[in-house]
Amino acid sequence: MFLAVSAAIFLCPLLIHSPCLIEVQELPEKPKLIGHRGAPMVSVCFTWHHPANKHYIFIDKDREPFLMHDHRPDFLRRTTNVEEKFIGSSFNNSADLTFEQLQTLNAGEQFLKNDPYGTVSLLSEEEKETARKEIIPSLLELLKFAKQHNTSVIFDLKNKETEKNDTNDTVKTILESGIPQNLILWLPSEEREAVKKEAPGFIQVYENETDLEKNNGSHLNVKYSEIKMKNISDLRKRNITVNLYVVNERWLFSMLWCAGASSVTTNACHLLKEMERPDWVMPRSTYLITWILVDISSALVMMALFHW
Ligand SMILES: *[C@@H]1O[C@H](CO)[C@@H](O)[C@H](O)[C@H]1NC(C)=O
Ligand SMILES: *[C@@H]1O[C@H](CO)[C@@H](O)[C@H](O)[C@H]1NC(C)=O
Ligand SMILES: *[C@@H]1O[C@H](CO)[C@@H](O)[C@H](O)[C@H]1NC(C)=O
Ligand SMILES: *[C@@H]1O[C@H](CO)[C@@H](O)[C@H](O)[C@H]1NC(C)=O
Ligand SMILES: *[C@@H]1O[C@H](CO)[C@@H](O)[C@H](O)[C@H]1NC(C)=O
Ligand SMILES: *[C@@H]1O[C@H](CO)[C@@H](O)[C@H](O)[C@H]1NC(C)=O
Ligand SMILES: *[C@@H]1O[C@H](CO)[C@@H](O)[C@H](O)[C@H]1NC(C)=O
Ligand SMILES: *[C@@H]1O[C@H](CO)[C@@H](O)[C@H](O)[C@H]1NC(C)=O
Repeated sequence: MFLAVSAAIFLCPLLIHSPCLIEVQELPEKPKLIGHRGAPMVSVCFTWHHPANKHYIFIDKDREPFLMHDHRPDFLRRTTNVEEKFIGSSFNNSADLTFEQLQTLNAGEQFLKNDPYGTVSLLSEEEKETARKEIIPSLLELLKFAKQHNTSVIFDLKNKETEKNDTNDTVKTILESGIPQNLILWLPSEEREAVKKEAPGFIQVYENETDLEKNNGSHLNVKYSEIKMKNISDLRKRNITVNLYVVNERWLFSMLWCAGASSVTTNACHLLKEMERPDWVMPRSTYLITWILVDISSALVMMALFHW
C-alpha cells in the first residue's frame, strides 16, 4: 500500500501536460495584441499591420456608418456634449441625427472626465489635448486611414434585428473606400454567404472549429476557454490563424503564447506588451530530471527516517 501510494505520488508529474514544457528555441512568436478598450485616439497597443482598437459602428439618419466606443443605449449623452449642443431635444439614438450634426459634437471631453477604462493617466498632456478635440469619426474615414497605413480592420455586427441592413451599409462603405479587401476581417456569420459573393477578398473569420472546417477557413476567433491548448497548436501547424478573447492575465497569456496562438484580444495591453517571455517555460527534459532528482532525494530522506 505504502509503496503504491508513494509510486503514484512520485510518478504523477509524468501525467502533467503543459504547452510550456518546451525548449526555449521552440517557443512560438509572441501573440499579437489586439486592444479591446483603450483611449479615444491613442490605442494603447496599436500595432501597424495588425488590427487596431475596437469601436462600435452605428448608422445615422442618412445611413452613414460611424464609430463609437460605447454601445449601450443612450451612448450619445454619455460620450458627447449632445445635451449642450441640442438643448431640449431628446437625442438618445444616433438615428435621430445626420452625420453633419454628429460631426458638430465633441467626443473627447466626456472621456477625459469620466475615464471609463482608467486609461486617461496613460496619456501625455499633448495626447490629452488632442483627445479633448476629438469628434466622431465616420467608418469611411477610418477605412481610408487604414488603407493609407496598410492596417487590418475587424468587423463584427451585434444587432441581430438590423443585421441585414447593417451588413449592406457596412460592405458598401468598405468597397467605396477602396481599401484592399484582404485587410478586412469579417466576423458576422448571418450574412456570410452574401458577403462572400459581394466581397470575395475579405478574410472570413469563423467562431468555432466546426464552422471553420466546414468552410475550409483560414481564421478562427474563439473564447480562450472554448478551445484546448492542443487544438490551438494543431491549428497553427496547419497555418490557421487563431485569435483568443478576452485575455487579461499574464499566466493565461503565457500558456497561449507557448501553444502558438496568433493573437489575443485584451483589455490589458500595457501589461502584456511588456512581457518578453512567457512567465514559465521549461524544457521537458529539465522538468523530468528535476522531478526524478526530487523523487530520489525524498526517497532517501524517507529511508533515512525509517532507519532512524
Ligand atoms: C501590407 O501588409 C501586409 C501584411 O499585413 C503585407 O503583406 C503587404 O506587403 C503590405 N503592403 C504594403 C503596400 O505595404
Ligand atoms: C431619451 O432618454 C431619456 C432618459 O434616458 C428618456 O426620458 C426619454 O424618453 C428618451 N427619449 C426618447 C425619444 O427615446
Ligand atoms: C432596411 O432598409 C430598408 C431600406 O433602406 C428599410 O425600408 C427597412 O425598414 C430597413 N430595415 C430595418 C430592420 O432597419
Ligand atoms: C443592399 O441594398 C441595396 C438597395 O437597397 C440592394 O440593391 C442590394 O442588393 C443590397 N445588398 C446586399 C448585399 O444586401
Ligand atoms: C458554430 O458557428 C456557427 C456560426 O455561428 C453556428 O451556426 C454553429 O451552431 C456553431 N457550432 C457549434 C458547435 O457551436
Ligand atoms: C481549402 O483551401 C485550400 C487553400 O486555401 C485549397 O488548396 C483546398 O483545395 C481547399 N479545400 C477544399 C475542400 O475546398
Ligand atoms: C479539438 O480537436 C479535435 C480533433 O481535431 C476535435 O475533435 C475537437 O472537437 C476539438 N475540441 C475542442 C474543444 O476544440
Ligand atoms: C505554413 O506556412 C509556412 C511558412 O509560410 C510554410 O513553410 C508551411 O509549409 C505551411 N504549412 C502548411 C501545412 O501549409
